[in-house]
Amino acid sequence: MGDILAARLLIASLLGVAAIGCGETEAASADNFNGDARRGADLVKNYHCGGCHDIPGIAGADGNVGPPLHRVGTRTYIAGYIQNSPDNMAAWIEDPQKALPGNAMPRMGIPQKDARDIAAFLYTLK
Ligand code: HEC
Repeated sequence: MGDILAARLLIASLLGVAAIGCGETEAASADNFNGDARRGADLVKNYHCGGCHDIPGIAGADGNVGPPLHRVGTRTYIAGYIQNSPDNMAAWIEDPQKALPGNAMPRMGIPQKDARDIAAFLYTLK
């Protein structure tokens, strides 16, 4: 009986380690992050992100210069390099060239407050 319980605990802890290693749950957490997703959606329209990206829920956003932003809120990496978190996403939008020098997304001069609201919107895409 004790052996079976021990085996179950071992399996449970191994599953726990596997879940942490995957990192997807961490990417989706928005603790201590303030941003207005509704305002962010308007900003995405105003900054014409849709000229380069296909973005769900944004009318006319069907660009194909950069990757589609479908489910970007649950993606593990931003641009294949940066761990996806709300803070890292806001930093990316504020200055993608500082976040990953030389990548193809231009710096658009977006203020920090706007970048955080846009990140909050992108995190609704799951
Ligand atoms: C001139 C075209 C262009 C514009 C405008 C643009 N982007 Fe991008 N964006 C790109 C490209 C190209 C990449 C891919 C960069 C890479 O992976 O190295 C990218 C990557 C991204 C990523 C990472 C996607 C992923 O799959 O990892 C996000 C998020 C993003 N852009 C959001 C935005 C938002 C929000 C705006 C508007 C504020 C915007 N972009 C405006 C070209 C653009």
